[in-house]
Amino acid sequence: RIAGPSGIVIFGVTGDLSRKKLMPAIYDLANRGLLPPGFSLVGFARRDWANEDFGTVVHDAVKQYARTPFSEEVWRHLAEGFRFVQGTFDDDGAFDTLAATLKELDDTRGTGGNHAFYFSIPPSSFPVVCKQLARSGLAAHTPDQWRRVVIEKPFGHDLASAQDLNTVVNSVFPPESVFRIDHYLGKETVQNLLALRFANQLFEPIWNAHYVDHVQITMAEDIGIGGRAGYYDGIGAARDVIQNHLIQLLALTAMEEPVSFEPKDLRAEKTKVLSQVQLPKDLLASTARGQYTGGWQGGAKVVGYLEEDGISPSSTTETFAAVKLLVDTRRWAGVPFYLRTGKRLGRRVSEIAMVFKRAPHLPFSHTDTEELGANAIVIRVQPDEGVTIRFGSKVPGPSMEVRDVSMDFSYGQSFTEASPEAYERLILDVLLGEPSLFPQDEEVELSWKILDPIEKAWSRKGTQPDSYQSGTWGPASADAMMARDGRVWRRP
Ligand code: BG6
Repeated sequence: RIAGPSGIVIFGVTGDLSRKKLMPAIYDLANRGLLPPGFSLVGFARRDWANEDFGTVVHDAVKQYARTPFSEEVWRHLAEGFRFVQGTFDDDGAFDTLAATLKELDDTRGTGGNHAFYFSIPPSSFPVVCKQLARSGLAAHTPDQWRRVVIEKPFGHDLASAQDLNTVVNSVFPPESVFRIDHYLGKETVQNLLALRFANQLFEPIWNAHYVDHVQITMAEDIGIGGRAGYYDGIGAARDVIQNHLIQLLALTAMEEPVSFEPKDLRAEKTKVLSQVQLPKDLLASTARGQYTGGWQGGAKVVGYLEEDGISPSSTTETFAAVKLLVDTRRWAGVPFYLRTGKRLGRRVSEIAMVFKRAPHLPFSHTDTEELGANAIVIRVQPDEGVTIRFGSKVPGPSMEVRDVSMDFSYGQSFTEASPEAYERLILDVLLGEPSLFPQDEEVELSWKILDPIEKAWSRKGTQPDSYQSGTWGPASADAMMARDGRVWRRP
C-alpha cells in the first residue's frame, strides 16, 4: 500500500539514527514508489542550517546508506519537500515556525495536515517536546487530519520511568497515535516467525514443552559501542537490547496463535505471554554480565570498553548480558528461555534456536550416536537470513553411525526480492496508521517488570561485570550459568 498525503518531522535530526537509518529509509520508500507525491520531511535541530544545508546532509546519508540505487529524478522530487527548522526544545518561537512550516507544506505540497513527529531524542526531552507540540496546536488531530508520534527507545530506564513517560506522551497523544519503535519487529525474518509457526502444520505440534528442551535467543554484535558512549554508558546491554528486542522475540516465539493478525488480537497474545514470564529464584546464578576488554577482531586491534572514548575508566556498565527466563504456561512449563546479547562478540548474528529433547529411545549402539547432538530449529534473523533444521543422519558406510546434518532455507536462494530495511517497513506503517508492529504501553511496562528485578539484583551485587576478551563469546560466567543447567550455549 502507498501512504496517503503526509509528512514527517524528525526531532534529533542531526543524530546517528537519523543519518544512518531514517533518511535512507525515507529515500528507499520514495524510490519504491510507496510515499505520496507531496511527501515532506522536516528536520528540527539546534544547528544553524538553511534548507539547502539540510538537503546536503540528507543527500550524503542517502548516498552512503540507502539500499536502493540512486535516482536523480526520485531525489529531486523528494528534496523539494525538505524543510529545516532551527531551534531548541524550550523555544516557543521555533515551534511556532514549525507550525507555520507545516501549514505551508499542507498548502503547497498537499500534505493534508497529516504529520508524524519522530522523537529521535533522549527520553528526558519527551516532556518538553510534547508540551510544545500541544501548545503550538500541532498535536491536535481532527477526524480528517492525523497527528502521530513515533518514539525511539530507550523507553524509560525502569518500570517507574517508563510509566512516567507513558503518562506524559498519553496526556498529549491518544494511544492509537503513539508508535513505539522496536526495529526488530520491522525485520522480515522476525515477521516470518509468525508465518513459520502459524501457516504450517509442520512446526506447531512440536512447539511446546513436550518436545522442546530449551530456547536460546541470541543477538550478538561484533562492533563495540562506536561513538555512542553518551547513550550507552549507564544503560548497558540488558536495557539496550534485552528489555526490547529480545523480549519481543521471546513473545513472538512463545505466544499462542492469535485469532487474527489484527493489531488488538496480536497484542492480546503478546501481552498474555509476557505477563506469564517468571524469573528464576536465584537471579545471580541464572544471569551473567560482562564487559569487553581489548583484543583482536576481524584482523584489527580493538580497545576494551573502559578505554573507549567517553567512557569512565571505572564504569560498571555491562556490554554483555545473559538471562534465563521461564514462561509459566501449559505450553512452556519447565522450558527455560535463555536470552543473551553482547558487543564485540565472535561475530554479528541474531537467531532464535529451539533446541529439542533427545529422542526417548535410541536403538543404536552408544558409539554410533556419540556425534549426535540435539535436534534444533534455528530462525536465522540476521545476517544470513533463513531457517536451519538440525537433525541426525546416517553416515554413509557399513556402520549405523549417526551424525548431525542441517537443512537450510535461505532468503537469498528462495526469493529474488531483497528484504527491505526494518525502518522502511516501520516508517511506512506509521504513515499508513498500521500499528501491528509497534509495542504498546502495556507491553513496554511488562518487559520492564521482567528486567527490573534483574537490574536490582545486579546493582545489589554492585561489582564490576565479568570481563571477556573482544572477539570471544562472552564471560566465563555465562558458560557457567548454562553449565549449572547441564546445557551449553550455541556457537552460531
Ligand atoms: C539498537 C541498539 O537497538 O540495535 C544498538 O541500541 C544495536 O546497541 C542495534 O547496535 C543493533 O541493530 P541491528 O539491527 O544491527 O541488529
